[in-house]
Amino acid sequence: MNKGLQKIFGEIPETYELVNHILTLGTDIVVRKRMARQAAKDGGRRWLDVCSGTGETAVNLSKLAHNGTQIFAADFSGPMLQLAAAKPEAKNIRFVLADVGHLPFPDNSFDLITLSFATRNINTSRENLIKTISEFRRVLRPGGRYLNLETSQPRFGMVRRLMHLYVKLAVKPVGTRISGSKAGYAYLSETIPRFYSAEEFAEILTLAGFSEVTHRRMFLGIAALHKAVK
Ligand SMILES: C[S@@+](CC[C@H](N)C(=O)[O-])C[C@H]1O[C@@H](n2cnc3c(N)ncnc32)[C@H](O)[C@@H]1O
Repeated sequence: MNKGLQKIFGEIPETYELVNHILTLGTDIVVRKRMARQAAKDGGRRWLDVCSGTGETAVNLSKLAHNGTQIFAADFSGPMLQLAAAKPEAKNIRFVLADVGHLPFPDNSFDLITLSFATRNINTSRENLIKTISEFRRVLRPGGRYLNLETSQPRFGMVRRLMHLYVKLAVKPVGTRISGSKAGYAYLSETIPRFYSAEEFAEILTLAGFSEVTHRRMFLGIAALHKAVK
């Protein structure tokens, strides 16, 4: 368990969504909704959102779910999950306090797993990332889908440099100012430029045992949505 990271997320729940919306100029809302639409369209009765945080993705999924769909949301931060669970739109979501490296679910028990903007957090090393994604695969049923939404590396050098400059200049000062957490936004500004390109991350999904790995770039490649099938 990454205690340092767990502590960081325990410090920022109240301002977490506001900081994201400001720093991304609202585009995080757009890409989260796109992900939920794509995730929900293939149906299934048991869905799990991992590293769910304040539950934005789980809530988006719940709005698109057919009656009878069970939606679970897992995270290792009690304060983040408490905020999620207090949302009126979250009343049909079951919240589970767990490290996603060891999910408290049997093999083959979900039709869908989603993860938004937390892949950088479980990327403590490439090896550990592959191991954790293999754990997601374990709890998916054969044919089940994994959707991953994360910041990425734009292909065009100029766009990539501008993005990294923006992250360097804006993320830490704005995030720290609003949330009061220096560590949280220092961490965010360090992990975004270091994260994988869309192609590199697709390879990681394959190494974790997934097939039919596809991806779509969003907003000039600043974010990428990957889909993979067990
Ligand atoms: C950047 S937030 C993303 C939250 C949410 N998915 C979203 O789209 O806003 C990262 C979340 O991942 C959780 N997290 C990080 N590592 C984790 C782990 N190993 N097990 C469970 N939760 C983890 C943190 O507690 C935090 O709530």
